[in-house]
Amino acid sequence: MTIKEQIKSILEKAVKKTLKNNSDEISVQYPSDLSHGDYATNIAMKLGKIMQKNPREIAEQIVKNIPKNTLIEKVGIAGPGFINFFISEKNLKIEMAKVLKEKAKYSKSNEGKKKTVIVEYSSPNIAKPLGVHHLLSTIIGQTLNNILDAIGYKTISINHIGDWGTQFGKLIYAYKKWGNKTILEKDPINEMLKLYVKFHEVAEKDPSLEDAARKEFKDFEEGEKENRKLWEWFVKESLKDMNKTYKKLSGIKFDYTLGESFYEDKMDELLEEGKKKKIFVEGDEGSYIAKFDDENMSPMVVQKKDGATLYSTRDMTTLKYRITRWKPEKILYVVDMAQNMYFKQLFETAKRFSWYKDEGFHVSFGRMRMEDMQMSTRKGNIILLDSVLEEAIKRAKKIIEEKSPNLKNKDKIAEIVGIGSVKYNILSQNRSTDIVFDWDKMLSLEGNSAPYLQYTYARAHSILRKAKTAKVSVKTDENKNEIAEKISHILRMIPKFKEQLIFSAHEYKPNLLSQYLYELAQKFNSFYNSVPVLTAKNKKEKIFRLQVTQSVSQILKNGLALLGVEVVEEM
Ligand code: ARG
Repeated sequence: MTIKEQIKSILEKAVKKTLKNNSDEISVQYPSDLSHGDYATNIAMKLGKIMQKNPREIAEQIVKNIPKNTLIEKVGIAGPGFINFFISEKNLKIEMAKVLKEKAKYSKSNEGKKKTVIVEYSSPNIAKPLGVHHLLSTIIGQTLNNILDAIGYKTISINHIGDWGTQFGKLIYAYKKWGNKTILEKDPINEMLKLYVKFHEVAEKDPSLEDAARKEFKDFEEGEKENRKLWEWFVKESLKDMNKTYKKLSGIKFDYTLGESFYEDKMDELLEEGKKKKIFVEGDEGSYIAKFDDENMSPMVVQKKDGATLYSTRDMTTLKYRITRWKPEKILYVVDMAQNMYFKQLFETAKRFSWYKDEGFHVSFGRMRMEDMQMSTRKGNIILLDSVLEEAIKRAKKIIEEKSPNLKNKDKIAEIVGIGSVKYNILSQNRSTDIVFDWDKMLSLEGNSAPYLQYTYARAHSILRKAKTAKVSVKTDENKNEIAEKISHILRMIPKFKEQLIFSAHEYKPNLLSQYLYELAQKFNSFYNSVPVLTAKNKKEKIFRLQVTQSVSQILKNGLALLGVEVVEEM
């Protein structure tokens, strides 16, 4: 149990003693000012309203009813009735010892009780380069998978590739008409994109092409050999290219890559079930739709008038398949907010089936605003990821050359810093809003950025390195109060790592973890600037301050690893 959870459980007992049947959820928060303790609750104010009593009196009663324990050093009542808890330094040191002992495993907890969560992310469409939103989905999704896994859920990561649909009719048509095997094999994705674009250009003037493409797709769906072969080839070449991209990003791993095509032979059954249960009703000209009471929601088409299936048909089939096969508690869909309405329709429809128990959750994210991205790295909504990563590495290298010209392995470090910056920049922003892409901020050595955290980590390591060789030189602490304060601040950050990790996992928001790491780094740098470590007042104190340094560096490393960002010991 985290310290926060222990406080909560102590409080629950005290509240129960004060008021027999309290049904209010007790929320435990971090006070914004450390002088108000480590944790605080407003439960007395909430109860005051219900019981029509002075909240400070209730707070006093609750405090009186707090059972004896070794965790809390002091309890205070403040303002209109906040109850503030101060954790004893002894307990904070116990937590620090855990970090030192468990090292990489310190991220692990049993919060998820091995319950299954499916995390679906990336999910690009075949025959097209990764879109910006696919890149965001890949990075956010992988992180959520890591975080949930760390806190004890059994995660299943899935890449739901878009390898089905009428666009393949277009591609097949275009390839047959304008394509060339050698060119396509050389640069598959770009060539396929060109063919796709050309199709649309020509079809604008000659709409008969649309019918021709539909026919190609129908032939393909009915098993026509040549078209099948072409499709298989397109898919194979696309996947190869995508895997290169995942490799470059590093740390991207899927348990399953199951394209929409995987559900081809499972859709009939679902359509039948839906029709039988009147969940799918007849729409225009023999199409089938799901209707909603909410008038702001347009119906969702699940079968076209010609009998063809749609994205939604495949998704509904996928949903049932996942629930039946893995019995997950949750299925996360890490997909951009352009599909908000679509997922609402999908889950609303699913609710009418008996096999669905609200497993689906759309982890929606905003658009990327690329204000200063050069034209060379963008093309509409398509991101030329290679150029972005290359540019990031180049910029990181330049900074390293300036800062530490004598460093070894500058290229490797530049890669770690560059790629880390791109990922961290995305993960440190609230996914519900637009995500801003800003080179300077992203690579800054100050502020909430990967290089700042990586630099802090390296700084801690330089102390630890020196401690091994440096001769002992003892100095009396000059600024005792300040030193005690800095040490206390940093110790108080330690238990919050797990607490914020769990919070971040439950909100499906990586930025909550990154915000914690940023705060920890800030507090550590302030400790570093005013607390002598290597020249501590005596040997015992020196060892303790080195332990503080070691545990902070361990937490930074663990936290960044969950975000897919590597660290280096020197930079
Ligand atoms: N391939 C889709 C796209 O690129 C995203 C798929 C999202 N996942 C899902 N189950 N619908 O827009």
